[in-house]
This record gives sequence, C-alpha cells and structure tokens, in this order.
Amino acid sequence: MIPHTHPRLGVNIDHVATIRNARGGDYPDPVKAAHMAAKTGADGITAHLREDRRHITDRDIERLGAEIDLPLNLEMAATEEMLRIALRAKPHAACIVPEKREERTTEGGLDVASQVDHLAPFVDALKSNGTRVSLFIEPAQNQLEAAVSLGVPVVELHTGAYADACNVGLQEKAMQILQSLQAGAAWGQNEGLEIHAGHGLTFDTVQPIARIPGVKELNIGHFLISEAIFCGLTDAISHMRKLIAEADGRSLS
Ligand code: PXP
Repeated sequence: MIPHTHPRLGVNIDHVATIRNARGGDYPDPVKAAHMAAKTGADGITAHLREDRRHITDRDIERLGAEIDLPLNLEMAATEEMLRIALRAKPHAACIVPEKREERTTEGGLDVASQVDHLAPFVDALKSNGTRVSLFIEPAQNQLEAAVSLGVPVVELHTGAYADACNVGLQEKAMQILQSLQAGAAWGQNEGLEIHAGHGLTFDTVQPIARIPGVKELNIGHFLISEAIFCGLTDAISHMRKLIAEADGRSLS
C-alpha cells in the first residue's frame, strides 16, 4: 500500500439513501455509490445507521459489508440496538456519534465527558469484537481527556461549526474554530490518539482541515453527494481527493 502523506478520504454515502428513501424504491443505490467511490480512490466508506433509518438501512449495512472491499466506518449512537448490529456487522471502524431524532444532522459532538460510564461498555464491546472505535467530539479539552480515559484509538473532530462559519463569511470565527481544531489535534496526537475530522466540509473549506498536522482521515458526505448532482459522483470525489492531496503542497499520489 502506498503510504499516505495526506489524510485518507472516507466517503459518506448516507444521502444517496436519503434520495432513495424520498420515494421508497431501490434507487439511487448507496451501495452502487460505494462501488463508484472505491473505483475513484476513496479510502473508506462511511455510513450512519440512524435509529429512525431515515437514510441508511440495516440491509444497506449488510450489503456494504458483503460487497465493498474498502474499510467500512459505521457511525452509530451508543444504544443497545446499534451495538447489537455493529457486533454482528463487524465493521472495520465504528464512530460513536450523538443522535437526536429531531435533528436534521449530527449537531455538535458527543458529550463524552458527561457519559464516560455509559460509553465504556460500548467501547469495550466493540474493541473486543475487532472494531476500531472512534468518538465524534468537539475539540474541547474535557472531551479529549474523556476520550483518552476511555482508551479509544481514534477521535473524529467535528468540523461543522468551522464549516458553517466559513459558509456565512464569519472569517474570524472560522479562524478561531480552526485554531481550536489544530490545538485539539495536536493535544490528542500527543496522547496517542489518531485524529480524524469531518462534517460539513466542502471544496472551499476542506484544505485548512486537511492541512492540520496529523489529521489522518476526513469523512465527507453531504457536499459530495450534492455536488454529484451537477458533475457526477466520480468527478466530485476525484476533485475532493485532489484538494486534500494538494492541501499540504503535494500532488495526488
Ligand atoms: N463524520 C461524522 C461523524 C458524521 O456524523 C458525519 C455526518 O453523518 C460526517 C462526518 C459527514 O458529514 P457531511 O455529510 O456533512 O460531510
């Protein structure tokens, strides 16, 4: 395998399923999107099985496991139901995320600090089953410390607030959040955590995040699927990969 000099790209295919489910039929097929992502050089596939199954379904997860060779990163809430599914599916990675039925998307990171005792058995069960566990958190010191105390190998830093600030032109706020993401990534790495990042990233906002030293993986979905409407999924993913690769001044390897 070619060593990565830039973050891996995990393509989140949830919103292919959102469009499919709008009509309740079989298309567009998120597994077909995963095949295309694999051909286009994605490093992994990410899918969030929500409690309300608003996009990805149990069957999608089964098919992704059976048909796709890339590592699967299953995003899941810390519930008994999701744990049972994850233990059966044995994905390469599981990212524990907060989940509220009424939210439009995952708003904010998981409050690990206030629920260490609740999360510990989930982390342990997934780890013993051979799944790499990650926690989706804000880059706050107390959350990072709680993640370290739980013994997870990975944290994914929530970039949603940074992306939102960029999108509405709040440059100063975006810079402040970027600095806290940089500081969180540095602290976490120092403590032995592998750092991933994601949420809300676009062609315009990905490079400062890709450039953060030590960020090993970016998980990107909604924008790629949206952009695919105009230029196709292959072009959207290829362009994102190129931007990630070029963020540190290198070209795509
Ligand atoms: N990372 C995590 C943990 C997420 O929950 C999501 C959204 O499902 C993403 C990354 C991707 O976010 P977006 O779809 O906004 O690119």
